[in-house]
Amino acid sequence: MKIVFLGPPGAGKGTQAVFITARLGIPHISTGDMLRRAIAEGSALGQKVKTVLDAGKLVSDELMIELIEQRLQQPDTQKGFLLDGFPRTVPQAEALEVLLKKINKPLTHILLLDVPEKVLVDRILKRGKESGRSDDTAEVALKRQKVYWELTAPVADYYGKLGRLIKVDGLGTIEEVQGKISAVLE
Ligand code: AP5
Ligand code: MG
Repeated sequence: MKIVFLGPPGAGKGTQAVFITARLGIPHISTGDMLRRAIAEGSALGQKVKTVLDAGKLVSDELMIELIEQRLQQPDTQKGFLLDGFPRTVPQAEALEVLLKKINKPLTHILLLDVPEKVLVDRILKRGKESGRSDDTAEVALKRQKVYWELTAPVADYYGKLGRLIKVDGLGTIEEVQGKISAVLE
């Protein structure tokens, strides 16, 4: 399966992606995790993007598309993959279509985890107490929500207009949401 996981910050994409990819035996490709790793390693990429993540803004489309293009050329994506956090803008979604056509790996499922905004911010602040993620403060969490509605919600509309979007209710316990996702991936 070749899955895209959409949803606002705090929707549970990362949490659910871990279960799905373990069950299906496909790589979990989280652009947020890739960027945080680059920052922790102090690589050139990490140094370039640190201030962007800390501010809750988006890294440039150009850089992200290049990163994903390289990642999708790795042999472990042959049997499928789950993209978490990409595409995050309409230009990224368009670039992904072109790229997947080129390597002949069309998406099979585009899922949107739907969760009300109030719940999202509460989840992020709670995570912030344990995660040490520098963008899990109240101010940056709100900024990330704003960026989502401005730049990433149109990606859901983009797939929706193509009739390819599957909405999943992201409220409930982690196990309940897991069940709902498994049902649509049958
Ligand atoms: P990224 O790492 O992708 O962060 P995000 O989209 O803001 O999403 P989160 O990771 O905060 O939320 P999530 O949906 O994964 O929820 P989680 O499972 O953790 O991106 C970070 C930054 O990187 C961006 O701001 C940007 O700067 C940059 N970036 C990344 N990709 C980019 C791209 N393509 N283009 C440009 N820039 C990019 O859950 C949240 C919390 O809730 C956890 O504590 C979890 O335990 C809890 N939880 C989960 N499910 C439930 C539940 N059902 N009930 C109760 N609690 C729950
Ligand atoms: Mg995440």
